Amino acid sequence: MAKAKKTTMFFCQECGFESSKWMGQCPGCKAWNSFVEETVPTTITGSKSRVQASQVAPVVLSEISLQEEDKLTTGMEELDRVLGGGIVPGSLTLVGGDPGIGKSTLLLQVCRLLAEKQIKVLYISGEESLKQIKLRAMRIGQFSDSLSLFCETNLGIIEETIRKLQPQVVIIDSIQTMYQESVGAAPGSVSQVREATGVLLQLAKGLGVSTFIVGHVTKEGTVAGPRVLEHMVDTVLYFEGDRHASYRILRGVKNRFGSTNEIGVFEMRKEGLVEVKNPSEFMLNGKPEGASGSVVTCSMEGTRPMLLEIQALVCHSNFGIPRRQASGTDFNRLNLLMAVLEKRVGLQMSSCDAYVNIAGGMKIVEPSLDLGIVMALVSSFKNKPIDDSVIVFGEVGLSGEVRAVSMAEQRVLEAKKLGFKTCILPKSSLQGLKVEGMELMGVSSVQDAIDKI
Ligand code: TYD
Ligand code: MG
Repeated sequence: MAKAKKTTMFFCQECGFESSKWMGQCPGCKAWNSFVEETVPTTITGSKSRVQASQVAPVVLSEISLQEEDKLTTGMEELDRVLGGGIVPGSLTLVGGDPGIGKSTLLLQVCRLLAEKQIKVLYISGEESLKQIKLRAMRIGQFSDSLSLFCETNLGIIEETIRKLQPQVVIIDSIQTMYQESVGAAPGSVSQVREATGVLLQLAKGLGVSTFIVGHVTKEGTVAGPRVLEHMVDTVLYFEGDRHASYRILRGVKNRFGSTNEIGVFEMRKEGLVEVKNPSEFMLNGKPEGASGSVVTCSMEGTRPMLLEIQALVCHSNFGIPRRQASGTDFNRLNLLMAVLEKRVGLQMSSCDAYVNIAGGMKIVEPSLDLGIVMALVSSFKNKPIDDSVIVFGEVGLSGEVRAVSMAEQRVLEAKKLGFKTCILPKSSLQGLKVEGMELMGVSSVQDAIDKI
């Protein structure tokens, strides 16, 4: 006897965990009170096309022809690099980010560049009216006629339109506003978001349309129903940055067609997003001269070196428990490095408040920053400025040793480009390294580095 089919399920709105009964805490992501009852669609999306696909015989790997040149370049280098060289036909890309960070602006600019190359682009907005988009477009510049705009949230209609118009690139702004009638849940809920992405995936793969999906990030820092979305799409990009600072970072989190280590740097201006070709210069802008507690270090973002200023402020604490604060870097790492300074160098820092900041609002967790943080702390503690022509990088171990970091040469070359004269780096990274016009000082321990400076 066939069991009656269950038509409603409970879904965690944070991670998409499903359960047949309501739960107070999600076993998947430990969020509280995140379960919502949703109707589960009884028909499986794309079941028809799946049957069709199964009639096609499997293919030998060597018989698959690769058309590398098919990648569409947008002409926006920062974006192309993050995408792994350009937009792959039939790919599905998720662009996540906080509201107001500039996702719609970025994608509209991509539309403009693609449309200029006579590529047929369809921008579907569920959030803004045509007038609002027009106003935004007017700030950005002139648009060619191969861009069409469409304000719609019903996926059935969207699917029909895409099939009829046959665009090469489609933008969905945003996935949380889209809904499928057959799903009895509100737009933005896990089942709607999943269903909508499923439909778009079918369209992208079936018609070879490259699709960009905008996804809003919840206050916990994840796209609503993120796990559900992230594994369905080919590429996940996060657009981040301090809302009060003008620069924005586009970061690849998942990429089936390229490296995920790449970042793109943009600046938000009144005429839209402008690429920042030399982020180091941008990040060091406004560095104070001759101030204690400030040091320049070099971090690698994928294949690209980026110079950053680390600032530290160490002062005597008036309370029993000293305050420690790290912005832009890991708090626990800061505590660890201070413990190393206390134990291995003998600086009495346990009664001091310490604040560490990466200027410009960048967030970096790379271990090569360690030595920079340590030097900034020491400089502030002793109230002695570090020479402005010095750059410092290296990983610090628990016994106070300075360990090798990758790609030392690129880092040194970047520093040289911006006029730095002296580089303090791990001794073990020094082997075979020679850069003209740059004094390289290899150090083996934190004490060694302090002595050299
Ligand atoms: P938007 O792309 O609407 O953000 P999202 O789609 O991620 O929610 O970006 C909106 C912000 O960008 C808004 O605060 C105004 C700012 N902005 C500029 O500074 N210059 C511009 O040319 C445009 C179009 C927007
Ligand atoms: Mg938007």
